[in-house]
Amino acid sequence: MSSKRVLVTGGLGFIGSHTVVALQNEGFEVVIIDNLSNSSIDVLGGITQITGKTPEFENIDLRDKSAVKSFFEKYPDIEDVIHFAASKAVGESVSNPLLYYENNISTLVYLLQELNKKESSRFIFSSSCTVYGQADNLPITEDAPVKEAESPYGNTKQIGEEIIKDTCKTKNSFKAISLRYFNPVGAHPTAEIGELPIGTPQNLIPFITQTAIGKRNKLSVFGDDYPTADGTAVRDYIHVMDLAEAHVHALERLINGKEKNNYEVFNLGTGKGNSVLEVINSFEKVSGEKLAYQIVGRREGDITAAYADTIKANTELNWKANRSLDDALKSAWKWQLVVKNREEEDH
Ligand code: UD1
Repeated sequence: MSSKRVLVTGGLGFIGSHTVVALQNEGFEVVIIDNLSNSSIDVLGGITQITGKTPEFENIDLRDKSAVKSFFEKYPDIEDVIHFAASKAVGESVSNPLLYYENNISTLVYLLQELNKKESSRFIFSSSCTVYGQADNLPITEDAPVKEAESPYGNTKQIGEEIIKDTCKTKNSFKAISLRYFNPVGAHPTAEIGELPIGTPQNLIPFITQTAIGKRNKLSVFGDDYPTADGTAVRDYIHVMDLAEAHVHALERLINGKEKNNYEVFNLGTGKGNSVLEVINSFEKVSGEKLAYQIVGRREGDITAAYADTIKANTELNWKANRSLDDALKSAWKWQLVVKNREEEDH
């Protein structure tokens, strides 16, 4: 328990909002910064419904360096930051790399510059298993080499980690953890908050639920000629609530001085790989819906298989993913039904 205030940037986004819920459930006071570029102010109401508490909210664009400075002047007690705010569309990053370097790198530097002025501070960074590319060995441990990034988006995660690591080297009292997420899916079980993809979803689960609800005609399964059991690609799908709770464990590790090094990296996954066809089967089972899909060619840049070695997170963070793929898909479907009702009410 702590009554310290924690800054959550991007706290109205998909993973950010679930983490705010997990933090408030553990007694943390939360201040959110979000520029609403890929989120909605309504999420604040969802968080309040679940936790009975409305976090403080500042509509700030982190690219505005003077606004970041003013924020820390307004909240001088904040020394703990969980940083989600970033752009995450792989394709868009390829067509507009400078936007990604500005959104994901400049903003990180501005935050770290402010934190560096403090006597001590702690920082949790949203990284991604994308830094491993197609790893040579499975499951993927934190020691697996970082491969050349496939996209500017992936590169911003690699560069972000390096910037944080270098900053940690200059100051012992600045402590940071990079969390490398596998594939975050699902929604809060109340369906008060969930993932809100803008436009056509690029990720598998929102595409599945939007197809089942009738918003898309058919799911395209990208490739069935991978060297896997059923030929479709394998990923480690982790329930967003498990992921959210891992952030609380990571922050508490730093607050309680349990870290082994002032810069650490953890994989966050379930440790289990599922193929695209297994995901479809699980979805059909928990939703009772038949999913229209077709097999098409591979998507450029996709890897064959990735799943996490969870030993380091299990032992050091004292955390493990407890929810199943079925649980995640059930919550994603419940959320999709809520979104549909809301869209109908709006018309
Ligand atoms: C993607 C990003 C990754 C990012 C992550 C964030 C790419 C290449 N990678 O990971 O950098 O960190 O999202 O969540 O975009 N699939 C289909 N049909 C679809 C959509 C997906 O068959 O319509 C398949 C994909 O080929 C893949 C699996 O489903 O095998 C998961 O895809 P997705 O949800 O996009 O995640 P990743 O590609 O693993």
